[in-house]
Amino acid sequence: MTITPIAAIQGEMRPPSDKSLTHRAFMFGSIARSPSVVINPLEGEDCLSTLYALIHLGLRHERMQDGAYRLIPAKEWVQSTASIDCGNSGTTMRLMAGLIASRPLEVTMTGDASLSKRPMGRIATPLRLMGADIDGERAPITIRVGSLRGIHYVSPVASAQVKSCLLLAGLRADGVTTVEEPALSRDHTERMLGATGVRLQREGLSVSVKGGQTVDGFRFDVPGDISSAAFFMVAVAMLSGSELLVKDLSVNPSRTGLLDVFEQAGVPFEVNNLREALGEPVADVFVSTAATLKPFTIDGDLVPRLIDEIPVLAVLATQCEGTSLIRNAKELRVKESDRIETVATVLRRMGVEVETFEDGMAITGPVRLQSTTLDAGGDHRIAMAFAIAGLIADGVTEIHGAESILTSFPHFEAELNRLGVY
Ligand code: S3P
Repeated sequence: MTITPIAAIQGEMRPPSDKSLTHRAFMFGSIARSPSVVINPLEGEDCLSTLYALIHLGLRHERMQDGAYRLIPAKEWVQSTASIDCGNSGTTMRLMAGLIASRPLEVTMTGDASLSKRPMGRIATPLRLMGADIDGERAPITIRVGSLRGIHYVSPVASAQVKSCLLLAGLRADGVTTVEEPALSRDHTERMLGATGVRLQREGLSVSVKGGQTVDGFRFDVPGDISSAAFFMVAVAMLSGSELLVKDLSVNPSRTGLLDVFEQAGVPFEVNNLREALGEPVADVFVSTAATLKPFTIDGDLVPRLIDEIPVLAVLATQCEGTSLIRNAKELRVKESDRIETVATVLRRMGVEVETFEDGMAITGPVRLQSTTLDAGGDHRIAMAFAIAGLIADGVTEIHGAESILTSFPHFEAELNRLGVY
């Protein structure tokens, strides 16, 4: 993909549907006690990995003409004869592990080169404590017949994937499963469980589910993904004279750390028309260019609320007047790439002063960016973050490995062309 500078972004967009919510909607549709309808799911590669995995295990589906899916759960999940390919998707592997471990199956899950490097011990260890038999700390992992018991697990990481894996396993475990996390990670699973009839107990940073409960069939219109909209919202913040109305956006507070950073940086935005879908808040958000951009700090509880937006926020930091600081974000090192290393390396090549730490980075701006050529290394968010950097850089930015964008934002380039003003 090649990116040339543009003057502004203007117009309105309906971002791709939320990836985390689509994964969960497909999974919930396959464990519900009656059929469900998922309207507007994200048909990116990651979510399709989840859908295909579920189909292998007995889910039936109909894709309607308007793109909605009717999901018909199997009474009993079926033993898959082949291994299940989770592609690039950590959410597929980690959440599916919880569903599989609690059923009488033996399943091997594989992944692509990037996923095969990512830590699976974080779900294998607590699932083993619940009684599951799991081989492998990294993909491929094999999970065997489980009859699970509830545990109280204190997670060392604020990870929604770990929390969700254990809550989904806990639905079929004996007794109560409790997950306690160091900071609140995205709470989509808890909200969807609540909205489909499952009783949960939340207390501070702990959430508990009692085994033996089932999920009601549901109808869910999946809202837009703030992690995808973020690329355009940051472009608007940096390119003077830009304005963008982002419609049908999921504004779950556990996901809107981007807006907290906009407040710190002085980026004007308005949240309007707040409503709800299956327990998830949805709104239309209007963003415009900042007069001047102030440096910002991302630390502590804010980190899990914007973990996937950090690459593009690092690009925003290059245009802020002073040093922006990102700390407590060691998780970035085990995402689709080591995002601290990849972001710092490419930003330096674009002329930016970046200091890295084990758990973050310090970025000093404002800098007039120089274009560069980069390899996104199979990481969709790195490809898109540097496409946004390319919009304000001198010259032509060339991004190799941009096909990874198909995992989460299939129409990214088309949207840039549609909304970009030259
Ligand atoms: C996700 C949770 C986050 C996020 C990932 C999707 C989810 O990962 O980075 O893109 O859908 O639960 P962690 O929960 O492991 O931080």
